[in-house]
Amino acid sequence: MNSNRLLQISLFVDHNDSVIDIGCDHALLDIYLIENKLCKKALATDISENALEQGINNIKKHDLESYIPTVLSDGLKNIEVSDYNTLVLSGMGAHTIIEILSNKHKLTNIQKILISSNNDYPLVRHELNRIGYYLEDEKVVEDKNHFYPIMKFVKKKKKNKINEIRYGLLKISNIPYYEYLIRNNRLLIKQIKHAFFKKMCLYLDNHYYQKYLKKITGRKLK
Ligand SMILES: C[S@@+](CC[C@H](N)C(=O)[O-])C[C@H]1O[C@@H](n2cnc3c(N)ncnc32)[C@H](O)[C@@H]1O
Repeated sequence: MNSNRLLQISLFVDHNDSVIDIGCDHALLDIYLIENKLCKKALATDISENALEQGINNIKKHDLESYIPTVLSDGLKNIEVSDYNTLVLSGMGAHTIIEILSNKHKLTNIQKILISSNNDYPLVRHELNRIGYYLEDEKVVEDKNHFYPIMKFVKKKKKNKINEIRYGLLKISNIPYYEYLIRNNRLLIKQIKHAFFKKMCLYLDNHYYQKYLKKITGRKLK
């Protein structure tokens, strides 16, 4: 597996899990899970015909077409979910993920949801808590110079603490990610200070220039 993201997702999958991989694209995760017997079964699904075609070709290359069913579907719309207990949503934006999970009838049997969102992690954590899933584990992985929090939610009434929603689960293994956040924050604060200072200078310049102009001409600059 040459993706740290997908590898970490696979580490959150258990042998008894029946997985629906939503937005499977190349289906590499499903192939890896089934080839290595890491789960009971896996279904690969995507909204895009081209993406699913690519997935089907890869599944065929690995001789797994009788083990990995595929479905063309917008989220869970065309999928019979009752035989599955785990969802994977990876490589999509937060709003798409939340939209896909908005049909709560489809989630009745789903005990575990693994998410690698492209953005807005606090929103994802907040929404998952709202629909009854608790952030139980989280591992941040670096993939192609980018940090990705891989989140494992389980069906539970419990809610995460506000700081867990904002920043994720504090874990020693995620320290390189926190360092990256602090570095970026420092840079942002520096940029804000710089922009503020520039604005103040402009304001003051303009303010004194106005005064000076009024003094020599008796009128205001428009
Ligand atoms: C960047 S790929 C991610 C592929 C793989 N899951 C990964 O993490 O490497 C995103 C995939 O999500 C699919 N997708 C986007 N919206 C979707 C939806 N509403 N339902 C199903 N698939 C969707 C896209 O067609 C695309 O193939």
